[in-house]
Amino acid sequence: MAVKVGLLGLGTVGAGTAAILLDPAGRHPLMTDIEICRVGVRSLDKPRPVEISPDCLTTDLESIVTDPEVDIVVEVMGGLEPARSLILKAIHQGKHVVTANKAVIARYGDEIFTAANEAGVYVLLEAAVGGGIPVIQPLKQALGVNRIHAVTGIVNGTTNYILTRMQAEGGDFEPILADAQKLGYAEADPSADVDGLDAADKIAILASLAFGGRINLADVHSEGIRHVSAADIAYADQLGFVIKLLAIARRDTCPVSNEVLDQLELRVHPTLVPKSHPLASINDVYNAILIEGEPIGQVMFFGPGAGAGPTASAVVSDILSIAASLKSQGAVTTQAPNPLLACTHQHYCKVSPMADIVSRFYVRLLVEDQPGVIGELGTCFGNHAVSIESVVQIDLHNGVAEIVVVTHEVLEANFQTALDQIRAFPGIQTVPSVLRVL
Ligand code: HSE
Repeated sequence: MAVKVGLLGLGTVGAGTAAILLDPAGRHPLMTDIEICRVGVRSLDKPRPVEISPDCLTTDLESIVTDPEVDIVVEVMGGLEPARSLILKAIHQGKHVVTANKAVIARYGDEIFTAANEAGVYVLLEAAVGGGIPVIQPLKQALGVNRIHAVTGIVNGTTNYILTRMQAEGGDFEPILADAQKLGYAEADPSADVDGLDAADKIAILASLAFGGRINLADVHSEGIRHVSAADIAYADQLGFVIKLLAIARRDTCPVSNEVLDQLELRVHPTLVPKSHPLASINDVYNAILIEGEPIGQVMFFGPGAGAGPTASAVVSDILSIAASLKSQGAVTTQAPNPLLACTHQHYCKVSPMADIVSRFYVRLLVEDQPGVIGELGTCFGNHAVSIESVVQIDLHNGVAEIVVVTHEVLEANFQTALDQIRAFPGIQTVPSVLRVL
């Protein structure tokens, strides 16, 4: 008996999903047993990029999630509502769910997975992070035997494209964003991407899987790339770094004893990445996720983080996993979910405040070019246990000097306290950039 799919949405990802399912030749043999039986669309009259029987189409999305024929509801409509309500309704109707919706999962994962566990159904989301890159399933399965120390990713293609162009062209953020919007690489409202919110959703999901606990999205510190300038990229380059928007989740350690703590660092921010680091060479719209664990060491997943084909590949892989599970049970419904596919945790992870994080910093200051300014800076940092790795005075014009300081690893609270005092020094004109260094 075929496994029946109800598709909510026939936009870019929905059409890509249908295209794969309607053309199973040369793919996994089980795909011939998967059938699209209902497709929810906004308008019945629009021309379709894929050939879907008109009998399958409906504008009544609720009728799909309540249809007794449907085994798997595939939510590829995006947005928070009605996506969240339809997912919950599908679960309550005993349907398995596949979704590409990182925003819904990052915000409502608790109620969705609690409902799914109660109903004995799967909610799979490979497409929600890293587009076509398989990373969710490896975290749940192949890497599940490791103790994960850190997940560090370039998980937003739009910002990676902008930063790559800023690096290559020596250009500033605003004109390159405008060009990226014209070329269709950035949305008309770019906020979710450039302010780090999309990456925050994604690292919350990855952290939840890597560290086996739920994540409160508000605990993810998130900074975007609007304040990264061509000057910072050029200085970083001279110092041996590239600037990337990193999403970081790591098990925290005590800064004094180095003991591993039962709490996480969760942060998204532009970061100076040493050119020798594996993530430094990930350019353009590509995504990559570096996972570090014991005993495996480092594994990096690289690939297309968006786009119809890659994202649909991830969606269909989830459909196939559920279909395989249902087939192996000899029925198309089950009340005993496979723990490698289901969500097995319920508690919330404890997350360290940013003040407790240990990191290196890059700071660029415009100062009056007069004796003693560098001395004052050094003394103030020293008084707050901030050890300086390098100080470079790179540019001089109109009696103004530009100073770039890179610190050793320091406690963020100490660094910020020192910097607040430094900002108030009479010789300091402005502090245009403060960035963290990997
Ligand atoms: N807007 C995302 C990005 C793609 O730029 O990576 C979808 O997750």
